[in-house]
Amino acid sequence: MNGRRGSGPSPIFFVYRRKCWTQERARKVTPQECASPRGFTDARRSRESHRGTPEDDDWGHTVQNVLHSGGNFKASERGHILKKFSPIENACLEALMEDILRPYVPSYHGLVEREGQTYIKMEDLLMGLEAPSIMDCKMGFRTYLEDELAKALLKPTPRKDLYNKMVALDSQAPTLEEHLQKAVTKPRYMQWRESVSSTAMLGFRIEGVTIEAGSVKKNFKKMKSREQIMETFVIFTKSRQDILVAYVKRLESMQAALKESEFFRTHEVIGSSLLFVHDRRGTANVWMIDFGKTTVTPAHISLRHDVAWEPGTHEDGYLLGLQNLIDTLQDTIQMVKENREEAVDGSAQEGEQTIGENEKMLLKGEVEVKTTNGENNALMTPIQPGNRTL
Ligand SMILES: Nc1ncnc2c1ncn2[C@@H]1O[C@H](COP(=O)(O)OP(=O)(O)O)[C@@H](O)[C@H]1O
Ligand SMILES: [Mg+2]
Repeated sequence: MNGRRGSGPSPIFFVYRRKCWTQERARKVTPQECASPRGFTDARRSRESHRGTPEDDDWGHTVQNVLHSGGNFKASERGHILKKFSPIENACLEALMEDILRPYVPSYHGLVEREGQTYIKMEDLLMGLEAPSIMDCKMGFRTYLEDELAKALLKPTPRKDLYNKMVALDSQAPTLEEHLQKAVTKPRYMQWRESVSSTAMLGFRIEGVTIEAGSVKKNFKKMKSREQIMETFVIFTKSRQDILVAYVKRLESMQAALKESEFFRTHEVIGSSLLFVHDRRGTANVWMIDFGKTTVTPAHISLRHDVAWEPGTHEDGYLLGLQNLIDTLQDTIQMVKENREEAVDGSAQEGEQTIGENEKMLLKGEVEVKTTNGENNALMTPIQPGNRTL
């Protein structure tokens, strides 16, 4: 028993897992059908009238999970996907193919043209997974470039749109003056945005989650505490220790490679994510993705990535965030073990009732996680169609 137990989650997730399996069997639809943006009834109907083509196959899970990305992605032939061209990301992927980090990033297959638009062709990381569960974790202690902040500071015009975004997330966040003006400046908004999530404290934040090819949940903007993140991992992996352990091992080997990497030493890695993917068969992996804001640092700077950022240093804190993520996952494994032992000891009955309620809420998209300070955080609010973002 450890000190977190009092404020941590109840041993409910094992029962939760059992119930999910039962429901899947009862539904008699494939997870792919459930993942259809239009729901599985439509998917079943369309399966009957449309046999598909090899291209359709390639849409598979990936396109369902990237369609959200403001039209940034397009299907390609089997095993590949296309992402809208960005010179910065393209240069990174090219360089990464020659770096020790190559095994940790999607393989790069050059550029292709589609309907007058240039795309980067890369490996589809969901290829071969059956009803994949996916989590996107954005890494680092800040998600804006130094240059972006510098530009914003040069012209700190109060903006009403950013005020509205701020109020939508937390009506108490603006100062009295900002409330009066109904506007906030961009630098203020950028820094506040990091402080409400776990980015500022832990150096990573959860951006979005899909469980077993279901709908994409992305209401994590205010998720700050380790306990909340641990609970999200428990739900995400359905308490599977084998998957959690595989994730930790992969992150540890990635960490070793990062420390040796020439690419990493010379790049400020901002807004990049770790993509966690697994399926029910226990295949699990983590990949580095999204290099749209990963830029070469000035020649005289050799980045450490394990120190706090001071303006001008270009440090991103990536390694600190990664260590926090590994520690959080290890604590999650410990918590799952302890919960299992307690369940075996016969304390599951009480838990079973709790999960009954929690599961109902999860299915309705209203699971809430209580933080240590008693604050509630909506964890799984479903997103609207057409707004599927990880
Ligand atoms: N190579 C890939 N294979 C499979 N899915 C991917 C791949 N790259 C990105 N994705 C999916 O697309 C989402 C958005 O990708 P990302 O590169 O972060 O785009 P954006 O620049 O729009 O944020 C990821 O969270 C992930 O779900
Ligand atoms: Mg991204």
